[in-house]
Amino acid sequence: MQIHLNGIKLNYHEEGSGPAIVMLHAFPLAGAMWHTQVALLREQYRVIVPDLRGFGGSEAPPGPYLMDTMADDVAALLTQLGIAQSAVIGLSMGGYIAFSLWRRHRQLLSALVLADTRAAPDNTEGQAAREANARLVEEAGPPAIATKMIPNLVAPSASQALRDELSRLIHANSSQGIAGALRGMALRPDSRPDLGSINIPTLVIVGTEDSLTPPAEAEAMHHALPNSTLVQIEGAGHLSNLEQPTAFNSALQSFFAA
Ligand code: MLT
Repeated sequence: MQIHLNGIKLNYHEEGSGPAIVMLHAFPLAGAMWHTQVALLREQYRVIVPDLRGFGGSEAPPGPYLMDTMADDVAALLTQLGIAQSAVIGLSMGGYIAFSLWRRHRQLLSALVLADTRAAPDNTEGQAAREANARLVEEAGPPAIATKMIPNLVAPSASQALRDELSRLIHANSSQGIAGALRGMALRPDSRPDLGSINIPTLVIVGTEDSLTPPAEAEAMHHALPNSTLVQIEGAGHLSNLEQPTAFNSALQSFFAA
């Protein structure tokens, strides 16, 4: 479905009924990465899956897309859908946006799942690498980013079918959208000072083979989050929900049933 908010056209998918759960996708993918989790959660929840600005079927205005702007998009979507409070599941970039939601719209949040993400900002080297990737995608298009990133997004054992699915999702995005998110992520603030204030139930998930946001980051977040549980997913890399969907879904099920 499409909705106009904050000056752009945002695409989102909605299924099921019950308490709301919003799922925020990773970079440089789209809401479709959550299909296995939607199939589980729609049985008991109202599941809302946006394509974040710049991705999937949503509009890709000129960047940078600040995490705060993307969080405001999500808050506006919830408000337009008449949802007063929702759980938020964010993986990687989705987690960065979840931190902005906490800072700016915490009254909307009932629980958080922070998967394969980090609270720390980019260092100077990381920011330079983002800018290099933004220039690469502007010059060579999304396939160049797919080729560069996919080996780091999944564990070495990930199937060719999953790698092909990721290629399809990345190729379907625009260069402007990918560059806009890269430059926005480079500008994101340090969320570590906020962790102690996040008092809602929080599940931290990480793939044991996640090389982009490694288990040590997840453990540090878990220790700083006063109301959190940590689940490590064996054999998964950065995209733990796609790589080990059964283990990821069972972690979600235990968390939401508690
Ligand atoms: C993601 O999966 O969203 C990205 O790896 C996040 C990042 O590049 O920091």
